[in-house]
Amino acid sequence: MPEPTPTKRDAFGSSLGAFAATLGSAVGLGNIWKFPYLTGSNGGAAFVLTYLLAVALAALPVMVVEHAIGRHLRVDAVQAYARIVPRQRFWAAIGWAGLASSLLIMAFYTDVAGWVLAYVFKSLGAFVSGAPLTPATFQALVGGTWEPVLWQLAVLTITVGVVAAGVSGGIEKVTKTLMPLLLLLLLACDVRALTLPGASAGVAYLFTPDLSKLSSAVLLSALGLAFFKLSLGMGTMTTYGSYLPDDTRLVPNATRVALADTLVSLLAGLAIFPAVFALGDTPAGGPGLLFVTIPRVFAQMPGGELFTALFFVLAAVATLGAMVSLMEVPVAWLIRSARLRRPTAALLTALFMAVLGIPATLSQGPALSHLRVLGRDLFSLFDFVSSNVLLPLGGLAVTVVGGWLVPRAVLRDEMSKGHGEPAWYDAGVHVLVRYVTPVLILLILLHSLGLLGG
Ligand code: PHE
Repeated sequence: MPEPTPTKRDAFGSSLGAFAATLGSAVGLGNIWKFPYLTGSNGGAAFVLTYLLAVALAALPVMVVEHAIGRHLRVDAVQAYARIVPRQRFWAAIGWAGLASSLLIMAFYTDVAGWVLAYVFKSLGAFVSGAPLTPATFQALVGGTWEPVLWQLAVLTITVGVVAAGVSGGIEKVTKTLMPLLLLLLLACDVRALTLPGASAGVAYLFTPDLSKLSSAVLLSALGLAFFKLSLGMGTMTTYGSYLPDDTRLVPNATRVALADTLVSLLAGLAIFPAVFALGDTPAGGPGLLFVTIPRVFAQMPGGELFTALFFVLAAVATLGAMVSLMEVPVAWLIRSARLRRPTAALLTALFMAVLGIPATLSQGPALSHLRVLGRDLFSLFDFVSSNVLLPLGGLAVTVVGGWLVPRAVLRDEMSKGHGEPAWYDAGVHVLVRYVTPVLILLILLHSLGLLGG
């Protein structure tokens, strides 16, 4: 089969386009749903601090390597890792694990995205009826049988539509215009939450670390979230790297993406925790935190339900960008290896996602909540295995490949493209990739397996 040549493949038109697309994959439920919920369940600021370190020392270097490998080879992730180290087929496992991660992540991600979509309509309903959204609204939705599954299938259908039509570029444009709006609405939410009486306890919760809260489970969650947040360790950023123009400077681009993405997460945290404390809720509200707190914050403003609806519309758009990038990994692989047409590939992928996703959704309600695998329900199992096992392992493997197994010149040349010569920080990134990041990931993984004391 003839290889697609780089000129025939899609590419982002400019460095700004590349930045927007990368950010479009990164920003999603991870910022507004997962970051606050994990912060609340892991003790607050100590988790936030660990997360920030994980982004700087683990995720950022991995993003640079994934982009470098993708751009160097200009093929989809599965093929990239099958080829990157000649005569060592083993590394192809990174690509296969990436396919598995994308299916597992989508299984629970589409469940939560379904809740987001449902909340758009529920907020509008609350506006019309005058009956406020309460924690019971959320419980009824999540604990239902048909309702959450139907929302999930709606989300999958929309995502398939976008991926099948090959209009992800269009989505990026929509995201680019709506993302600033989401940011504005988050800011409004921040101002409202921060001016509630008692809000300062929430700020302290977010920013004054109590290091006694650190444990290997907290470290692993922070590391897993850093990879999940920046779409790393599973092929998405390798695929996106293959679309990067040659003049995009990898380190500054990845740094900007990480900073912008982290800003969104912190703004979400500042909307949620001050309100949680001011309103006397518990920060450890689990996966429902976003859905319970945000309506309560907006309820403190006139026309709050309309703002809540708008908030969830914008959240849904950001989420769609992330889901499109998740689906792109198996779809790009199926198109090339099974020579399927794009719509067929998207449909087939979605079918697998539904087969895994429906049981995950049902595991949150009476239908399947009794089913435990390794002590977890299916939803948390899929989340744990992907975020806390597969993505860190993928990230570790990527640094070993990029830092040790490919010729040094590959990473060096990719990093210096766009400046002509190496920048002062390139050597620093190389040191991180070779020594710091892999050791850090390995230590955290071993520690949480109980293989390294306490
Ligand atoms: N980064 C996305 C988010 O935070 C999720 C995602 C993970 C997207 C992996 C693509 C790949 O919501």
